[in-house]
Amino acid sequence: MNGIKIKGMGHCVPAQVLTNEDIAQRVETSDDWITSRTGIRQRRHCAAEGHLDLCTGAAQAALERAGVTADQIGVCVVATLAADTIVPSAACALQRTLGLPEDTVCFDLNAACTGFLFALHTVECLLNAASRSYGLVLGCDVLSRLTNWEDRSTCVLFGDGAGAAVVECRTGWPSIGAVLGVHGNESLLFCPGIGSDEPSCIAMEGQAVYKFAVAAIPWCLDQVLEKHHITVDAVDFFVFHQANARILDRVVRKYHIPPEKYGKNIDAYGNTSAASIPILLSELQAQGKLTSGSRVLVVGFGGGLTWGGALVEFA
Ligand code: ACO
Repeated sequence: MNGIKIKGMGHCVPAQVLTNEDIAQRVETSDDWITSRTGIRQRRHCAAEGHLDLCTGAAQAALERAGVTADQIGVCVVATLAADTIVPSAACALQRTLGLPEDTVCFDLNAACTGFLFALHTVECLLNAASRSYGLVLGCDVLSRLTNWEDRSTCVLFGDGAGAAVVECRTGWPSIGAVLGVHGNESLLFCPGIGSDEPSCIAMEGQAVYKFAVAAIPWCLDQVLEKHHITVDAVDFFVFHQANARILDRVVRKYHIPPEKYGKNIDAYGNTSAASIPILLSELQAQGKLTSGSRVLVVGFGGGLTWGGALVEFA
């Protein structure tokens, strides 16, 4: 199979900033508790913007940075828990807003916080059979719409945003070698849907999910290293799903990853679900930390339960 590389990243977040102090006015919590337990200082919540606005903004920024035009895209996959509408999907709506060719394969995919990795792998597979060599991969979630404001242990965690990657597939390029996994579980992390008597709000057994995450990240990391026959030293940068700074710090310590080799932006955005990895990749590219030839080990985990990792190179 021919592999993909990232040509350009882009991201888009809502204008409204919600600080920990703002949240403390709504529920019984404090800046000190949120910061020390999660590393989150603020998050963005949609007020005027919708899911499609975020997707469109991120995709346009990624296309511009990649120097690729809409008519060159052959596949467009949006990783999300919930778009503005069930039908059309966010990807179908994007076909119209971006002017993607009508034979572009467009659909949404739900793998919760691991969605961007599932989408990257899917787009790599599909581009091998597509008539055009560029793909759009998005992660976008508006978790503020699914937040239970009666539950202080979850309402402090989530933020809204979108990140997008323009990827290129070329003969001879190595595959990203994604490792993906699922352990179906309906009690640790769930959000009821249509037909349920319960409201559509995210509920989570925080400590159990924490334990799952601190086991899943090293497992994914080891699998990706093994699949690519490399060690930690051969990786230029590490990007993990931004769910909790304490989880990330544990992994970084375990693998002796130097500070200049990993990124963290959970303080500014909270947990943005499928968007967290592409938003961070986009910021790192904008800061000049990820450039042509950079090899990034990316790991995600979340609801499902799902997990995944891949080695992604910048073109
Ligand atoms: N403010 C103040 N106190 C709080 C708050 C709050 N916001 N939330 C909980 N507490 C209290 C609890 O009531 C409890 O009090 P008690 O001891 O008197 O009963 C105490 O703090 C400890 O609660 P815990 O739930 O044990 O807190 P913990 O240290 O585990 O932190 C957290 C909670 C931040 C949710 C953590 O468990 C976590 O990050 N889990 C992993 C989340 C994750 O990785 N999710 C990824 C997937 S998300 C997705 O897919 C959408």
